[in-house]
Amino acid sequence: MQKKIGIGIVGCGVVGGGVVELLRRHRGSIEEQADAALELRYVVVRDTNKARQVALDDTTLTADFAQVLRDPQVSIVVELMGGTDVAHSVVREALLAGKHVVTANKALLAERGEGLFALAERMGLTIAFEASVCGGIPIIRTLCEGMSGDRVRSVRGILNATTNFILSRMSEDGMDYAQALAIAQRRGLAEGTPTLDVDGHDAAQKLAILASLAFRSRVPCEAVFRQGIAELRPLDLRFARELGYVVKLLGQARLVERASETCIDARVHPVLVKRDHLLAAVRDEYNAVLVDADFVGPTAYQGRGAGAHPTASAVMADIVALARRMDTCPRAARPPCSRTIPLVAMDQIEGRYYLRLDVADRPGVLHAIAGHFGRHGVGIATVTQKKPGDAHVPLVITTHQARERDVQAALSLAKQSTLADVGDTCLLRIMDDDQDDEPTTLGAVA
Ligand code: HSE
Repeated sequence: MQKKIGIGIVGCGVVGGGVVELLRRHRGSIEEQADAALELRYVVVRDTNKARQVALDDTTLTADFAQVLRDPQVSIVVELMGGTDVAHSVVREALLAGKHVVTANKALLAERGEGLFALAERMGLTIAFEASVCGGIPIIRTLCEGMSGDRVRSVRGILNATTNFILSRMSEDGMDYAQALAIAQRRGLAEGTPTLDVDGHDAAQKLAILASLAFRSRVPCEAVFRQGIAELRPLDLRFARELGYVVKLLGQARLVERASETCIDARVHPVLVKRDHLLAAVRDEYNAVLVDADFVGPTAYQGRGAGAHPTASAVMADIVALARRMDTCPRAARPPCSRTIPLVAMDQIEGRYYLRLDVADRPGVLHAIAGHFGRHGVGIATVTQKKPGDAHVPLVITTHQARERDVQAALSLAKQSTLADVGDTCLLRIMDDDQDDEPTTLGAVA
C-alpha cells in the first residue's frame, strides 16, 4: 500500500465521533478497500477543551481550520458540523484549497449545493454526500450509479427517522404527539430544532436531493410541497388503522404527464399506506426508499436513517471511494442536472383522500356535507360516523380518485355549513393505487 491520504474532519459531534470510532475499529479492512493508508491528521472543533468520548491518538485536535487548509498532505476534508453558514464557508474554502469534500449536510446541499457543485467542477474536485440522505442507506450511490442506465420514474419513502419514530409511538402505543416527540428527543433522534423534522423540512431537503439525482433536473427544496405531522391526532391514526391503513410521513417524487408535458410531482406529507404495504412495516427510526425505474422496475432500500454508526458508515464509504480514485485524476462529481423539468402545482395533483370532520350530530348534516363533495365532482368511497364525543361526532370520509383542488374546495365549503357546525377537521392523502407495486428486490438492510 503506497498511497497515503490525509484527512481533516470538521465537527466532532455524534457523526464525527462515529467516523473516528469506525476508522479505529475497522482500519485494516477500510484501508484494504481504499488501497491507501488513511491518516486522520486533524479534527477541527470549536472548543478543544470540551470532554470527548473519542480517542484521537496522533490526530491533532484544533480549533483552527486554516491549519487543515494549509496542510498539503490533507486531500479530503470531511464536513460534519451541520448548519448552512459556517459549513458553507468550510466547504468552499476546502475546495478553493484544492481538497475533495465529504459531507453529511443535506441542508447545505439542498439550499446552497448548486454553487458549491459548480465550484467543485471548476476546481476538478469532488463533493461526496452519501451520508446526507437516509444515513446508512446507500441511496445516493444507487441513484447515481446503480440506476445510471435506466430511467427512474419515481422515488419515494420514509426519509425522516424522527417522525417515523413519533408516528410509530402514536399509532402503536396510543401516545399523543407531544409525548412521542419528547421520547424521540430523549433518544437524541430529533434535530436540534425539532420543527425541522416534524414540519417535514428535513424530509423535503432529502427529497429535493433524491429527486434532482433521480430525474437529472434540479428540484429546489422550496418547491417541494410540505405538510408535517404536528397536527396529527391519535384518533386519526386509529381511524386510519380501522380502515386498513398506517399513517407514514412520506417524501414522494415522480414523473407525471400533464398536457403532454413531463413534469415532476414532489411532495412531503403524511400518507395513509395500506397495512400490508412494505412501507407500513418500516417502524421506529428506520428509513426506507422505493425507487421505480423503467427497466429494473420497483426496488426497495431499507435501513437506519440517522445516528452515529449508520451515518459514519456512509461517510466512510465516500472516503474510501475518493481514496480509490485519487491517483486516477478524480473527476468532479457534479449531480447531473442536465434538464429542467417543471414541477406540478399541488392543487393539480390527483389522489384519494381521508377526511375527518367533527360535525354536529343532527339530521341533514351528512346530506349537506356530501352535497359539497358531490358538487365538486368528488366521489365518496366510504363514510363512517364514529361514536359521539360531546355535542359533535367525527365523520370520517374516504374519497375515490379526485383532484386536490376540488377536495380542498369542497372541504372549505363544508366548513362553512351552519347546520353541520364543523369543528376540527383533518385531511390526509391515501397512497395512490397506481403506485402500489410491490418492490421486487430488497437493497440495503441494516
Ligand atoms: N433528524 C434526521 C431524521 C436525521 O430524523 O431523520 C438526520 O437527517
